[in-house]
Amino acid sequence: MATTASSASVNNKLQGKVAIITGGASGIGEATAILFAEHGARAVVIADVQDEKGQQLAESIGSDRSTYIRCDVTDENQVKSLVESTVNLYGRVDVMFCNAGIFNSSIQNILNFDMAAHQKLFAVNVDGVAASVKHAARAMVDGGVSGSITCTASIAASSSADRSTDYVMSKCAILGLMRCASRQLGEHGIRVNCVSPGPVGTPMAIKMLGVSNQEEAEKAFETNFGLKGSLKVKHIADAALFLACQDSEFITGQNLIVDGGFKF
Ligand SMILES: NC(=O)c1ccc[n+]([C@@H]2O[C@H](COP(=O)([O-])OP(=O)(O)OC[C@H]3O[C@@H](n4cnc5c(N)ncnc54)[C@H](O)[C@@H]3O)[C@@H](O)[C@H]2O)c1
Repeated sequence: MATTASSASVNNKLQGKVAIITGGASGIGEATAILFAEHGARAVVIADVQDEKGQQLAESIGSDRSTYIRCDVTDENQVKSLVESTVNLYGRVDVMFCNAGIFNSSIQNILNFDMAAHQKLFAVNVDGVAASVKHAARAMVDGGVSGSITCTASIAASSSADRSTDYVMSKCAILGLMRCASRQLGEHGIRVNCVSPGPVGTPMAIKMLGVSNQEEAEKAFETNFGLKGSLKVKHIADAALFLACQDSEFITGQNLIVDGGFKF
């Protein structure tokens, strides 16, 4: 009997929880939305700017348990409205996964640093995450919810690169935001952590590498992993689930690196 009870809880780590995922229509966000639903989330709200993909994903999960809400995270009013709509629809927010992010196709070496492109990237990767943390946290405090907020940073935050200076800077900023927010929200029982993926073959990575599919993207990184094999969106979704659920109930202010021992 005890075995039955524990296996039920293993598969229902988010039973009854209401989760929002920004950048939820594609890649890491999409895999996480599916995993959260598989783990019994009462509602998974997919927030993105890719309407067709987001709507299709919500329908595939089930309209009784998932909704797509268009939200451009660079616009704080849209983020506020996303959180308010979620509370109106489902009564609360338990989990916020601030995952929307972009990568510039220009080189962004410091000698040729495109300030306009940098600002656009920061609007999504930094300001968008700050607004998402802020409004999710406010809803949790107002609702008396001891929730979990996770932000997607990157192993880029702990490295240097020949290019993509703005991207590296943006992910460093996320770590600072997470540390401050975790300290400020602890008294409300709200946990704030980061997940930092290594390179994964998502649409973002495919575009960045200029390859044509996931397999080619994975092949490009394969030899750099310490572990045999390739990093998959599932591995990041598993980490996001861990940080969202009770398995990490006394973990806050942490950056969970999921990179298969990646060597730069
Ligand atoms: N793929 C990797 O190798 C990798 C590695 C480390 C970190 N990351 C991070 O993981 C996160 C998810 O990226 P991914 O690899 O799944 O890429 P992806 O392109 O598949 O997904 C990103 C999603 O964010 C959405 N988005 C972009 N701008 C938005 C905006 N203004 N408002 C709302 N949504 C917006 C996109 O439409 C897309 O659905 C990003 O923060 C990225 O920086 C990715």
